[in-house]
Amino acid sequence: MCEKVKHKTALISGASSGIGYQCADLLAQKGYDLIVIGKRAAKLEKAVQTLRQHPVIIYPLVLNLCEPDAAENVFSFCKVNHLHVDVLICNAGMNCVGQLMHTSPEEIIDILQLQTLNPSLLCRYFGREMKKKGGGHILIVSSLTAYTPFPTLSLYAASKRYLHSFSKAIAAELKPFNVKVTDLCPGGVETDFFDNRGKFILLAMRFGLMMNARKVAEKGLNAMFKGKTYITPGWVNCLLIYMIHLLPRFCVAWLFNHTSLFANETDSKYEQKNKYLNHE
Ligand SMILES: NC(=O)c1ccc[n+]([C@@H]2O[C@H](COP(=O)([O-])OP(=O)(O)OC[C@H]3O[C@@H](n4cnc5c(N)ncnc54)[C@H](OP(=O)(O)O)[C@@H]3O)[C@@H](O)[C@H]2O)c1
Repeated sequence: MCEKVKHKTALISGASSGIGYQCADLLAQKGYDLIVIGKRAAKLEKAVQTLRQHPVIIYPLVLNLCEPDAAENVFSFCKVNHLHVDVLICNAGMNCVGQLMHTSPEEIIDILQLQTLNPSLLCRYFGREMKKKGGGHILIVSSLTAYTPFPTLSLYAASKRYLHSFSKAIAAELKPFNVKVTDLCPGGVETDFFDNRGKFILLAMRFGLMMNARKVAEKGLNAMFKGKTYITPGWVNCLLIYMIHLLPRFCVAWLFNHTSLFANETDSKYEQKNKYLNHE
């Protein structure tokens, strides 16, 4: 990761914190100019200020990637500024914890837009450019939740499953053109992501099972530059993937019947919260 590059550009969605920010920092260390995208202007500005310690050019882009035309706007921004993307990192994601029946139609559209349509379109726009140029790297951030349906994480886990499958397919399509696609599939990582911590997450934190965002970014970028199609950082996570298939069905059924393990949300808690909000 230490060898410096010249005149290369990386585009990172969701670069204002967590895994995306760490990827941006590592790539800037390597000499990449950066196009960094985030939703909240102040948060992105703060991240950009620290990234400016590196002698590279940084293009911040405040955008809500849930908007249907967001990917097209990102592409136009690059065209207007004559920016050629050598590394694309589709990382932006949102935490969507809750039962589907408690999720608003707007939230459903937002998460699917952010975690399926937007990365697909970004890969389509920039993948075509890389193919024409005869080289490039794409890193898609999915999740360990892609391996099994998760009650109270139905949309999140299903959209990550989409990315998991999508990245493998386009990796094969783009391989003949020297465009490498890698699926980064992290388990729990300590970031801003968990504003609503279920017992499952709190337990994982207590037992030190959550990974450090820097480490995850390092592993992801190393795998990407080596041209690997897939990486799950951490041996415990690799073991979990293997165990999921071996788990007896009654254990899975028990877990699925205790959804509060995944999120602090049961029907009665939801009603209590709603009653409280309606009284405000
Ligand atoms: N943390 C984990 O345990 C874990 C595990 C597996 C996979 N992942 C995946 O890793 C990726 C990065 O998450 P993280 O853990 O690093 O969390 P994070 O620190 O919360 O980072 C999420 C990034 O995405 C951006 N973002 C979210 N919604 C956006 C929107 N609508 N438009 C533009 N940008 C948006 C955020 O910007 P704003 O703050 O401005 O909204 C932020 O920069 C996500 O795809 C997540 O699903 C995380």
